Amino acid sequence: MKRIVVLTGAGISAESGISTFRDASGLWRNYRFEELATPEAWDRNPELVMEFYNMRRKQLFEVEPNAAHYALVELEEKYDVHIITQNVDDLHERAGSTNVLHLHGELKKARSTVAPNLVYELDRWELKIGDKCEKGSQLRPHIVWFGEAVPMIGPAAEISSTADIFIIIGTSLVVYPAAGLTDYAKPDIPKFYIDPGASYAGGISNLTIIQKKAGEGVPEIVNSLMKR
Ligand code: APR
Repeated sequence: MKRIVVLTGAGISAESGISTFRDASGLWRNYRFEELATPEAWDRNPELVMEFYNMRRKQLFEVEPNAAHYALVELEEKYDVHIITQNVDDLHERAGSTNVLHLHGELKKARSTVAPNLVYELDRWELKIGDKCEKGSQLRPHIVWFGEAVPMIGPAAEISSTADIFIIIGTSLVVYPAAGLTDYAKPDIPKFYIDPGASYAGGISNLTIIQKKAGEGVPEIVNSLMKR
């Protein structure tokens, strides 16, 4: 089976109603990420940081996967599909994708502040100051904040280097190390970039840019790949 590696960003969840970060109505247009998504912000004002992620987690319980998420599931009938997502939502999993690697953490999980390997599924939207891990320390969102290490980048780079086809969906490709994964894909394999705002061409070889929304562009590319 040929291996397809898919790198997704906030744009694939936009049509499900989840805000992106750098679009006109993106989160970082309304909030300063330094005040919400950094270890310093957590040390300075944990209640505010907790509220920011609680708001986003609450929304997650109210939205559904969209046609783009479901089209990627269909690919699994014919290809060995590995999804590497920058997103912290669970829409790929809820659509039925079986191979999802989260680079930046997961909104529906919390982790210990003294033992990062202690990670807990959250069945509720609200995480509160006072919610503690089994070692008695405060739980924090299981999110990779700016300035923190990206523990899954190694496995993600490894998977990217084995792709026969590489698909990029809904990401501005400005945040590293995630954006650097395209460099690990072999130069001669076909690569596709589905994003209405995609004007990026620098340095990615063998790239086809599809300036469409994910909900339209992803089913189209899946249909053509299923006919190969
Ligand atoms: N379909 C496809 N792409 C879309 C759609 C859509 N309907 N709507 C917007 N986009 C595209 C935008 O054109 C943009 O290129 O989605 C991309 C969103 O870019 P960002 O907001 O920068 O999101 P992302 O690239 O995922 O950000 C990466 O930055 O803030 C951190 O950790 C956060 O994972 C995030 C990382």
